[in-house]
Amino acid sequence: MCGIIGYWNKELEAFPILLESLKKLEYRGYDSFGFATSFENKLLTERQVGKVSSAKCPILPGKIGIGHTRWATHGKVTEKNTHPHRDCSGKIAVVHNGIIENFQELKNSLLNKNHNFLSETDTEVISHLIEEKLEQGMNLKDAVIEIGSLLKGRNSFVVLNSETKEIIAFRKGSPLIVGITKENGTSEVFIASDIQAFLDKTKKVMYLDDNQIVIIKENPEFYNVKTKDKIEKRLIKIALDTKDAEKGDYSHYMLKEIMEQKETLAKAINQNDKDLMHVSQEINNARGVFFVGCGTAARVCHTAEYIFSKIADKHVNFIPASEFENYKHFLLPETLVIAVSQSGETADVLEALEIAKQRGSKIISIINTQSSSIDKISDYTFLIKAGPEKAVASTKATTSQIVVLILLAYACAGKLKEGERFLIDVAGKVNDMLNPRYEEHIKKLAEIIYQRENIFIIGRGINYPMALESAIKIMEVSYIHAQGFAGGELKHGPIALIEKATPVIVLVANDDVRQEIISNAIEVKSRGAYVIGVSPENNPIFDYWIKTPDVNGEASSIINLVAVQLLAYYLGILRGHDVDYPRSLAKSVTVK
Ligand code: G6P
Repeated sequence: MCGIIGYWNKELEAFPILLESLKKLEYRGYDSFGFATSFENKLLTERQVGKVSSAKCPILPGKIGIGHTRWATHGKVTEKNTHPHRDCSGKIAVVHNGIIENFQELKNSLLNKNHNFLSETDTEVISHLIEEKLEQGMNLKDAVIEIGSLLKGRNSFVVLNSETKEIIAFRKGSPLIVGITKENGTSEVFIASDIQAFLDKTKKVMYLDDNQIVIIKENPEFYNVKTKDKIEKRLIKIALDTKDAEKGDYSHYMLKEIMEQKETLAKAINQNDKDLMHVSQEINNARGVFFVGCGTAARVCHTAEYIFSKIADKHVNFIPASEFENYKHFLLPETLVIAVSQSGETADVLEALEIAKQRGSKIISIINTQSSSIDKISDYTFLIKAGPEKAVASTKATTSQIVVLILLAYACAGKLKEGERFLIDVAGKVNDMLNPRYEEHIKKLAEIIYQRENIFIIGRGINYPMALESAIKIMEVSYIHAQGFAGGELKHGPIALIEKATPVIVLVANDDVRQEIISNAIEVKSRGAYVIGVSPENNPIFDYWIKTPDVNGEASSIINLVAVQLLAYYLGILRGHDVDYPRSLAKSVTVK
């Protein structure tokens, strides 16, 4: 949530590089964006409301600078609330990611000292606090250390002092990574919220950890905020490829990522058997297993209850990460907490894991981003290897996460090989399913229903959490009101909303609840619903049938979801929305 970039070099103009880098961070928030550079020791800034990718910006001169793309928390979406935020002297600029929980108290004391605030943001207190420290004669490094420690909550920020040409970053909570390139005698140093920002320039990185600062210069210097000691960091060469994060021939990342499921499922199956067996033993021996995640990943955690019950005869619990604290008294050293997350940076998940750590419980994670904060806090990590997911609405990461859950459940049941064979068959069926004719058939359905105001989705068993996830997908990108229900719950309220031609998507599998979900479909059909069957077999009550490959048991969740992802995509397109960057959402939610 919010993208940060900083850039230092001695020869090149910084602005074009900052601009291109910031565009790659747009998925982190796109309410507004801004830049600051240091030119002839003066601070120059440019800030605009809207998306950086579609903006026309005057070029700011200068060889060093910072940039920010905002997802608004404190203060409306206006130019004056756009980062960077300056101090009264006009030489300090700050970009920030997080929420300063004690900002009002800090702001009041600064107002008493006659600081002039230009925005409604919490961020601006950082600029004025630094100004205070510099006026007291402190150097920027010590000022950043002192102020970083003063801020309550999860806060990472980068400060530019235009007069001294210094850039210093502080990290607590949300990620900041340093990238370094040294070519033909020219050094360039980046600091960014995500490697993607500078991946086309360098793959050599150093990770800033919590409660550390880094001085951005030719040889970046890292310090521990608590001890003030200098820290030696290893330069790590990462293996990511920029091509994976580009749209290629696709019009949208979302469509590209849906189609990539032809390959990503197979990659997710390819885990280390020893690790799976080891973790499955931990699951079998644990006193309580809790799955935690947010948003779509929370729906994946919900499927875990069905997957482990059906495949491994094992009871596990699902808790939305934001509610986890309420359950902390159940956590023992023998308890296992399993986090599911695409980004590995979601604030609520991290907080849940910090609680688990304090209680001595073991942490396992199923994530897509190596070296992310969740990776670092985990005792064991399974990477889903889905490649970069850029569209805000998660698609390929979701199905890969379900694959890893199914594998783990088979391992718990002592049938890992059987599970692998089964999933390879499922991956093959998804590969066959995602063909142009199939896409066309789903697009036709979207053309029939895209102007409706409400869409309901029902499922039973594992297709109940998938009905909830389907609703998220449709809402996110089409802004149609969509709601998922357990088939049996429909008549306890929601059925009152079914009118003539209300679309109801029925997620069907050839499982033991097949007949019951068809009965629920008949109930809504009697009230005039337009019934859309996502099912291996046709049925006379379906007004529209989306045929799905017939797979056994819990993998129907993957198959049914892929069909609905495509439908959501076309609903969004037909309603004229920016499906990759839906309004008010962000890909990486690093605030609570
Ligand atoms: C945001 C994204 C969702 C995602 C959720 C959790 O809301 O828009 O697509 O499911 O965060 O993110 P994570 O990175 O933890 O999976």
